[in-house]
Amino acid sequence: MHLTHLTCTACGKEHDATVPQNLCTACGKPLFAQYDLAAAARTLTKESLRTRGKSLWRYREVLPVKSDADIVTLGEGWTPLLPAPRLGVKHGLKKLFIKDEAQNPTASFKARGMTTAVSMAKQFGLKKLAVPSAGNAAGALAAYAARAGMEAHIFMPRDTPKANVIECEQMGAHVTLINGLITDCGAEVAKRKVTEGWFDVSTLKEPYRAEGKKTLGYEIAEQFDWKLPDVILYPTGGGTGLIGMWKAFDEMEKLGWIGSERPRMYTVQADGCQPIVRAFESGEKFAAEHLGAHTRASGLRVPKAVGDFIMLAALRQSGGGALAVSDEQMISCTKEVGSAEGVFTAPEGGACYAALKMLLAAGKVKADETIVLFNTSTGLKYLECFGG
Ligand SMILES: Cc1ncc(COP(=O)(O)O)c(C=O)c1O
Ligand SMILES: [Zn+2]
Repeated sequence: MHLTHLTCTACGKEHDATVPQNLCTACGKPLFAQYDLAAAARTLTKESLRTRGKSLWRYREVLPVKSDADIVTLGEGWTPLLPAPRLGVKHGLKKLFIKDEAQNPTASFKARGMTTAVSMAKQFGLKKLAVPSAGNAAGALAAYAARAGMEAHIFMPRDTPKANVIECEQMGAHVTLINGLITDCGAEVAKRKVTEGWFDVSTLKEPYRAEGKKTLGYEIAEQFDWKLPDVILYPTGGGTGLIGMWKAFDEMEKLGWIGSERPRMYTVQADGCQPIVRAFESGEKFAAEHLGAHTRASGLRVPKAVGDFIMLAALRQSGGGALAVSDEQMISCTKEVGSAEGVFTAPEGGACYAALKMLLAAGKVKADETIVLFNTSTGLKYLECFGG
């Protein structure tokens, strides 16, 4: 379609988008997909969207796959943006919303990134994909690889929630559990990928998962009738969702759909694994690895992120910030959200509500502001966290 090339997010070096790519060949940082947005705007209009299908592929012109025949889909995206009136009233907030990403295939937002990454892998004729994962990316890769008739080689920490492991196995993936963290899983993929012939689809180490994730930004804008919210709280591990949304906002401005205003973006992490919070607070451009990382919110157990500097820049430019919450807070907040709004969130979703309470206590949000909490998966995948 309108994909033209890839550029490095750090040094700007251009890369060929007609062959598989991982990180920048010059500096080792993530690559971003670039489009001919003027050409895309000829058919992708706010009006044209009114009659399109209810999946993230409604934004087809700004997604990377060349031919429709290569799209590997399970009906991902266009998830509900649910008003949360009872929680809102509790805190005197008039416009509080939950973006419920549990309603994706494989019950997490990771489906967004994997539909685009696996579709591009199909376009390139790749057959064996490998990923280190906290759990949900693994489930999504297993599903989309199965759908495409490809092999999925998955490396997860041994203490990943059982649901993630079972889901991967039942979708025919090759699953290896590692005694360690996601960083150790990543090292295992890196060590073996050349001899095994695997293509590495690690978070931000291939350019197209972020493209699927960016549709979160397009969807929020469209669901709010093209007026972005004031505040977004997003649970952050590797950061593809946050980075993807930030990219989407820039693209939408270039498309003439929004102005230069941006939501205040808040990254939410766990007390036991908060590399981005620490770097944000100390004014660092990059985030040092969080040693001895631990939290029951497995999606947040990411001690080192290759896109750290992109996240930190977005948080600062947006006037937002970074917050860490305890496991106890996120678990009790999950019950509070569930009881008030009927959404059984993942602990990562509960963490966003816990972080909102911190912002309220610090006077950093106003009663009439529009606020979006991200629920990135379902509590049903984390029964161990709730005494199951
Ligand atoms: C439920 C959940 N929320 C949030 C995250 C963090 O996502 P990201 O890597 O895009 O920051 C993950 C990652 O595994 C996750 O599974
Ligand atoms: Zn570079």
